[in-house]
Amino acid sequence: MTDFPFTFDLLFPQGLPSRVDNHIQRRLSALRGQFLDQHAYQAMLDVEDCLLYEVYEIRRPELPGEMLMGISVVHPGKVGREFFMTKGHYHAVLDTCEVYTCLKGEGVMVMETPEGETAVEKLSPGKVLYVPPRWAHRSVCTGRAEDLVTFFVYPAHSGHDYGTIEQRGFRKRVLDGPKGVEIVDNDG
Ligand code: 6PG
Ligand code: NI
Repeated sequence: MTDFPFTFDLLFPQGLPSRVDNHIQRRLSALRGQFLDQHAYQAMLDVEDCLLYEVYEIRRPELPGEMLMGISVVHPGKVGREFFMTKGHYHAVLDTCEVYTCLKGEGVMVMETPEGETAVEKLSPGKVLYVPPRWAHRSVCTGRAEDLVTFFVYPAHSGHDYGTIEQRGFRKRVLDGPKGVEIVDNDG
């Protein structure tokens, strides 16, 4: 892999990168047990294993000093009253941060620490979010019809710990309520 400086373009209006080293597609079945309304989940899955989100990665050696970049596209939709979301994860190297820049759409980033602190930050075009070390993060698309598109960059040696979140989920959920987007405690 060349170490010369390189550029790539974010191709608007969608904001997808002109260079993609790895394209990930996550479907409903990849988030089994993560949504509040298990009946609505199973009923949707019985009809179709629909696409929830995609990740377009620009890869580098997973070494300290390098950064991994990419575009995350969370599609609009709901399981019951709960908006489509990413799996969410801690970085395997807990003391590693991440920066997200929202390019398109509406959403929130749900975050928490192992000690139980929680934070939810709104995302809209032009918003830059700094996720400090030790904070797990999950992107949620709250748009009715538009994708939530973010550009992310994080230390290349971070890795991913999905297990912790798969076991107990996040402490907050993002639901569609009578007054709009609702952030509720996860009593699951
Ligand atoms: C990362 C980033 C980001 C994330 C995607 C998909 O650490 O790689 O946070 O690229 O992977 O937004 O979310 P999940 O990794 O939780 O499926
Ligand atoms: Ni991350």
